[in-house]
Amino acid sequence: MILRNQSIAHLNTFGLNATANLYCEIESIAALQSVWKSNLLVQSSPLILGGGSNILFTQDYPGLILLNKLKGKNIIEEDENALLVSVSAGENWHETVLWAVKNGWGGIENLSLIPGSVGAAPIQNIGAYGAEIEQVLVFVEAFDFDTGQVVQLSHSDCQFGYRDSYFKNEGKGRYFITAVGMRLQKNPTVNVGYGDIQAVLERKNMSQPGIADVSAAIIEIRQSKLPDPALLGNCGSFFKNPIVPVATLAFIQQHHPEVKSFPAQAGFVKLPAAWLIEQCGWKGFREGDAGVHEKQALVLVNYGTAKGTEIIALAKKIQQSVLDTFQVSLEMEVNRV
Ligand code: EPU
Repeated sequence: MILRNQSIAHLNTFGLNATANLYCEIESIAALQSVWKSNLLVQSSPLILGGGSNILFTQDYPGLILLNKLKGKNIIEEDENALLVSVSAGENWHETVLWAVKNGWGGIENLSLIPGSVGAAPIQNIGAYGAEIEQVLVFVEAFDFDTGQVVQLSHSDCQFGYRDSYFKNEGKGRYFITAVGMRLQKNPTVNVGYGDIQAVLERKNMSQPGIADVSAAIIEIRQSKLPDPALLGNCGSFFKNPIVPVATLAFIQQHHPEVKSFPAQAGFVKLPAAWLIEQCGWKGFREGDAGVHEKQALVLVNYGTAKGTEIIALAKKIQQSVLDTFQVSLEMEVNRV
C-alpha cells in the first residue's frame, strides 16, 4: 500500500524530522514487483530505507521511500565445516549476528552491535574490530529496477572497498537488495587482534575465547564509547578514516609524533579521523542540538531537535578545520538526502 506524506522521523537513527511524499513498506518480492509495474518509479526515483542508520535527511523526501521489510533466514548449503546462509535484507543486522553466534557459526561476531539492516550491510561494506562483511559475503541478491528481475551479484561484482562497494558507485539507485548470502564457519577461529578486544578478554580471564566471548567483549566496548541511537540520535562514524600519502603522515608527525596510522595500499596510510577531529578541539562540542560525541569524536549526534542542515553545517566546519590544521580532507560516510 502506498501512503502519502508519511513521517519518517522514527525510521532514521539521527531522529531527524522529515516526511516522505510517497511511502511503501515492502514485505515481499511480489509487492516490489507490483510497485515496479506501476508508473511510480518512473515518476520519482525511489529511496530505499533499511534500519535508517546511515542516512541524514536535510529535507523532506519528494519521491517514494521503500522500507525494506523482507524477512527470513535460510541455510542454503552445509557441510561439516561451513554453511552458506541467505538472510533477507530487512532482517536486523545485530540480531542476525546473535543468531549466528548462538548457533556457534563464526565469521560475523566482530560485527556485533552495528546498527542497521542486513541489506544495508554490503552497501557500505560494514566493518569493525578488524573485520568487514566482505570477508564472509558470497552473494547479494537484488531486485534490478532496470529489468524488473531478481539477480544475484557475486562477491567480485560487489567491488568491495573500505566502506565502499558497487552499490555506492555505478550500481547506485539501480537495485533493491533482497538478501545477502554469507559463508559462516562451524569451527571458527576468533579474530581478537584489534584494539581493545584482547584487553577486555584478559580482564575477564578468558585465555581461550570463543565467538560468543568475542561478541560479548565487542558489545561491551561499543556500548562504552558509541552512543545508543535509541537514546541519542546518531549514525555511527560520520566520516571515513582518510587514506593519505605517507608524506602527509610525515608532515603531521613533525608536531605530533604520537599520531597513530594504519596500513593501506603502497605509499599511503589510513589515519584515525577521530584523532584528527579531537586534536582540532571538536570532541564534545555542541552547537544548539547538533554536536560531536564526547566519547568518540567521529560520531556526530543530535541532542534532540537538530535539523539535518545543522548537522551538515557542523560537519563542514569540522572538515575545514581538519583541512586547515592537517592538510587532510575528510570524506563524509553518511548518505545525505
Ligand atoms: N581516537 C581518538 N579520539 C576519539 C576516538 C578515537 O583519538 O575520540 C583514536 C583512538 O585512540 C584510536 C583511533 O582513533 O587510535 C581509532 O579509534 P577506534 O578504534 O575507536 O575506531 P575508529 O577508527 O574511530 C572505526 C570504524 C567504526 C568501528 C571502529 C572499531 C570507520 C569510519 N569507523 O572507527 O565503525 O566501530 O573502527 O573497529 O572506519 C561506523 O562505521 O559507523 C563505525 C562506528
